[in-house]
Amino acid sequence: MCGIVGYIGKRDVAPLLLEGLQRLEYRGYDSAGIAVHSRSAGLRTAKAQGRVRELESRIPKRFTGTTGIAHTRWATHGAPTDANAHPHLDTEGKVAVVHNGIIDNASDLRAKLTADGVPLASDTDTEVLAHLVARAGADGAETLEEAVRQALRHVEGTYGIAVLHEDFPDRIVVARNGSPVVLGIGEREMFVASDVAALVSHTRQVVTLGDGEMATIKADDYRTYTTEGSRTSASPETVEWAAESYDMGGHDTYMHKEIAEQADAVDRVLRGRIDDRFATVHLGGLNLDAREARGVRRVKILGCGSAYHAGMIGAQLIEELARIPADAEPASEFRYRNPVVDPDTLYIAVSQSGETYDTLAAVQELKRKGARVLGVVNVVGSAIARETDGGVYVHAGPEVCVVSTKCFTNTAVAFALLALHLGRIRDLSVADGKRIIAGLRALPGQIAEIMAEEPRIEKLAGEYAQARSMMFVGRVRGYPVAREASLKLKEVSYIHAEAYPASELKHGPLALIEPAVPTVAILPDDELLDKNRATLEEIKARSGTILALAHSEQEKADHTLVVPRNEPELDPILMGIPLQLFAYHTALALGRDIDKPRNLAKSVTVE
Ligand code: F6R
Repeated sequence: MCGIVGYIGKRDVAPLLLEGLQRLEYRGYDSAGIAVHSRSAGLRTAKAQGRVRELESRIPKRFTGTTGIAHTRWATHGAPTDANAHPHLDTEGKVAVVHNGIIDNASDLRAKLTADGVPLASDTDTEVLAHLVARAGADGAETLEEAVRQALRHVEGTYGIAVLHEDFPDRIVVARNGSPVVLGIGEREMFVASDVAALVSHTRQVVTLGDGEMATIKADDYRTYTTEGSRTSASPETVEWAAESYDMGGHDTYMHKEIAEQADAVDRVLRGRIDDRFATVHLGGLNLDAREARGVRRVKILGCGSAYHAGMIGAQLIEELARIPADAEPASEFRYRNPVVDPDTLYIAVSQSGETYDTLAAVQELKRKGARVLGVVNVVGSAIARETDGGVYVHAGPEVCVVSTKCFTNTAVAFALLALHLGRIRDLSVADGKRIIAGLRALPGQIAEIMAEEPRIEKLAGEYAQARSMMFVGRVRGYPVAREASLKLKEVSYIHAEAYPASELKHGPLALIEPAVPTVAILPDDELLDKNRATLEEIKARSGTILALAHSEQEKADHTLVVPRNEPELDPILMGIPLQLFAYHTALALGRDIDKPRNLAKSVTVE
């Protein structure tokens, strides 16, 4: 959510920063801006409401320089206008700041600055930072680092910032509290960004700042320290993913690419983790020994959006395979409701980005109360991965499309591994363990079978695209699938969709059923199949249209998408995939901006 990027070195900076912004556009895309310093022209900015390509068209001729910072915005304070686009400047135009996060006490700080006669040029929370840095300088701070440090003392909230000052053109000063900041180390050049996605085409050597950390980057040097000024040790790490992993790879959208690569992604999350002889699972980073695993009385899974839905599947898998009571809850609710934190409960935070603020805040609250928290996370070294006591990496690879697809699937598979691991430590039999392992190994091939059905799904999506609203229903194992499929459809197609447990339909939502409101029914061939068929009867009796997702043709449905049969516990993992394609093709038929749906952004680093 909001992307920052910066560069200092010998190359012409504007094209580099624009390329970085394109890579970060998934984090916000309502306005963008850039500040460049050159010896001859000093500090100059360009800004534009809209996408990065708008900014590109507004960049004046000879906008050259070798140091600069840039930003792509997802508006929090102030409408998406040119004036509210970052970078923000102080009154003299010497200090430029880009910011990701929210300054909670911005209205107080704005009021104080206004009372002191400082004219404010935008409605944003960020602008105060530029004025505070300038004021600290005027009040005697001798270095830019000291001025930024003093400015940050006034600020409450979250930030990842980069600051450029006309009087200190040899450096960029950055700071992090709650919003990601990564340094990229090149040959006599340095980069900074919110995400490695903006860096990997230039360097794979990175330093990830921790909360409360600052850094000064110069062309051939960097140093990290705390906001109090004490030096910190930061050794570079090598980014796992090559630049090509962030490309579209011949697909028209990232969403399609990411749906299509799920067979490989699932193969990756399984690789090297299964011991067939004993039907056991090896999860290197779990940090939970057998004695501790046996002592777990309850599992609570926390995440947001699709991560929460994958957590719902995870909770069912843990109950079914390990027989530990488990449930999932939106992290955003959990953190605000003063939950009872129980020492015998194992808490698990789930996140693709590892940066979602609500999930991170839930982890921090749990840790404060002494709980053991594991992470099921995709981005290696992300904030949630670092804050948790151990966990399972999802290994989905970079997910660029704003809506989650491959990471949802891989997270559910990672939970299956965890459930199997806990089950085999407790009382899951070898035979059942082997059955689940065979099911897991079958997933990549079955995903390929589903992908082969894409032309039919595309045709069906074309037929359903005119729906005013859609219902998604499933029972028990089918319910998280219904939730996720309905979220996917509304995010990318903007068709209103609701998900209900199939059994709840008759308690109210049946009133909505009519021919213009089709129902997608998830009916795995499990012990609830007859109950689910009864739901189809109820819908048909109200002239409803039905698209069934099942293991065989359903007589009562208008259309059936037949999904390969796996083990009943693993069926939800597969059943989500045709519905990702359904959402994708519906959005395509409606001409939507699939990778960047309106009003959304990936990595929600604000509350
Ligand atoms: C939906 C989607 C969001 C995210 C949610 C959590 O397609 O992408 O609902 O799942 O914002 O994000 P992470 O997993 O990064 O914590």
